[in-house]
Amino acid sequence: MSQSSDNQASTCLLQDVGVMRFNKEHMRLASYAAEFQELVDELRERPPETKDWQHIDALFSRILRVASGHFKVEEEMMSSQGYPGYASQKKQHDKFLKKMLEVQGEIRNRNIRFKDDFKSMLWDWLIHHINEVDVEYRAFFQGK
Ligand SMILES: [Fe+2]
Ligand SMILES: [Fe+2]
Repeated sequence: MSQSSDNQASTCLLQDVGVMRFNKEHMRLASYAAEFQELVDELRERPPETKDWQHIDALFSRILRVASGHFKVEEEMMSSQGYPGYASQKKQHDKFLKKMLEVQGEIRNRNIRFKDDFKSMLWDWLIHHINEVDVEYRAFFQGK
């Protein structure tokens, strides 16, 4: 089994964070990360063509749009309910978006080095954040 199909199988391994809307958004983000990983695997063997760059551009726009929308709603819910982990969550979300924008800048310059800087960062960050950080608000929100 290849690395990318491992990743796709792992989209089922996301923790249930107790909020249906957030679970769905997490699944969506994980599927984008798996799609990205697959593309990086493909580009290991050959230089990117125009259509690959277009795919990467579209994928990054999608990830940034869905992630920033998701973070915003998550933060609003945490802040309005007085969740104690809010500040730390906000910090992690902001750091992630900043990194994504940096990588998007490299992509816009058609700098293939972005692959090495980024590698599995997207997948690893999402899985860690969802399964170890987001999951912590589950009990808090359910107790409300
Ligand atoms: Fe989340
Ligand atoms: Fe989060």
